[in-house]
Amino acid sequence: MAQEDVFKALVSHCKEYGFIFPSSEIYGGLAAVYDYGQNGVELKNNIKKYWWDAMTMLHQNIVGVDAAIFMDPTTWKASGHVDAFNDPLIDNRDSKKRYRADVLIEDQLAKYDEKINKEVEKAAKKFGEAFDKEKFLETNPRVQENVQKRDALHARFAKALNDNNLDELKQIILDEEIVCPVSGTRNWTDVKQFNLMFKTQIGASADNTMDVYLRPETCQGIFTNFLNVQKTGRMKIPFGIAQIGKAFRNEIVARQFIFRMREFEQMEMQFFCKPGTEMEWFKHWKAFRMNWHKALGLGDAKYRYHDHDKLAHYANAATDIEFEMPFGFKEVEGIHSRTNWDLSRHAQFSGKKIEYFDSEENKSYVPYVIETSIGVDRMFLSIMAGCYKEEQLENGETRVVLALPAALAPVKCAVLPLLKKDGLPEKAAEIMNDLKFDFRCVSEDKDTIGKRYRRQDAIGTPFCITVDHQTLEDNTVTIRYRDTMAQERIAVDKIRDIVMKEISYKELLKKIQ
Ligand code: GAP
Repeated sequence: MAQEDVFKALVSHCKEYGFIFPSSEIYGGLAAVYDYGQNGVELKNNIKKYWWDAMTMLHQNIVGVDAAIFMDPTTWKASGHVDAFNDPLIDNRDSKKRYRADVLIEDQLAKYDEKINKEVEKAAKKFGEAFDKEKFLETNPRVQENVQKRDALHARFAKALNDNNLDELKQIILDEEIVCPVSGTRNWTDVKQFNLMFKTQIGASADNTMDVYLRPETCQGIFTNFLNVQKTGRMKIPFGIAQIGKAFRNEIVARQFIFRMREFEQMEMQFFCKPGTEMEWFKHWKAFRMNWHKALGLGDAKYRYHDHDKLAHYANAATDIEFEMPFGFKEVEGIHSRTNWDLSRHAQFSGKKIEYFDSEENKSYVPYVIETSIGVDRMFLSIMAGCYKEEQLENGETRVVLALPAALAPVKCAVLPLLKKDGLPEKAAEIMNDLKFDFRCVSEDKDTIGKRYRRQDAIGTPFCITVDHQTLEDNTVTIRYRDTMAQERIAVDKIRDIVMKEISYKELLKKIQ
């Protein structure tokens, strides 16, 4: 199946099986805003638990907070978001559609990559085992031409971004002959900056209101609580503060499902360290966070780092962890060395001294910060994309299976009576009532057992337990494993141990280090 079709199938699967619905769908839906359904919310909560435990349980020097979404508006002046949290936008005069200029250029870069990959695929097919990819990339003239074009565009684009040169961004779009995907024309306006923060008001009467923003990132609530946590928790540097919460951005180019949303959730950790040690910690967190992703077992080749060409106004180093989505490698997480910029700015704007007294060094300083910032929704999408499979079975049927890591699966175990009679549903209920205190299980008796297995495969349930007439005689059941579809007969009192071992967060967390 073409990648585009895989993505379409994934989006409809998310809806059909209660993972994700468009927000307020009965009114036509709200662009780039989504609701999580009955299975989606479980998977999302499990992702958050995996992150939270990995950060706060595995590190004694990381604690959590849950800061408010509304903050004093000065926060956003201090953080630079009021002045600099902008996207470069360009309109097409014919279609009246608005685009992010940087995204149009990134798409153009991806096109060169696609052309190169196509040449490689073609040659690999032609030469079979004798194919030497490295040599082909170095010597094939068509590949070389596209590599040169891509690299030249990349360098020009990075410079324009770094210089904040909006005219140059427009010129790149014209020179690359990029057309509007809707009108097909090159009738572009100038590129303009657009602030992404949502503004609203606090207060009841017209003369007593205050403009506030919906936070565009969660970490500012960590910075403004730095002294509170450090002092009340008697935290010693280096230490971290973790938080999971909603963030809001008025994204103009809303597309790719939950990849770019207007309301989304972030899991962020700010790690406060001694000035001069930040690069060492940056390296440490880069590796740890990559291991966290890889421990899920979706395939190491699906991840890569992408170092930033353009550093944010606060950073002295930054990298993304990218995942291979059906629409290419895309950022899921950012790791940023934010220097002492945020704490210094909050000190400046609040008039409060925000420093740490280092008793070993006998001096005070403003700590440096390494941030790890991952979007829950993007993580969700990467897991769905990595686990969604359409398998061709030996009997000619196709089965859709979500090969989710067992710890993250919305339902861990389905208890299925073979028939809706003869006391089998009652026995299934008895088993389920015993297991439900340890993990999430469901029981259903509608349709044939084969159809019920398929429904559980489609939501990623790792185990199905079938209760039949033999169960009533010898208290044994059939356990079916989702990925292999293998079945075996086991005693009822063995179910808990088998399931618990597979769904254990402990085993998952142990794989990280
Ligand atoms: N505090 C730093 C920060 O917010 P970012 O790179 O802008 O950095 C971090 O965002 C992560 O948040 C991204 O890697 C992505 O996973 C997620 N994210 C950002 N904007 C998003 C959006 N519009 N929709 C969904 N996730 C988003």
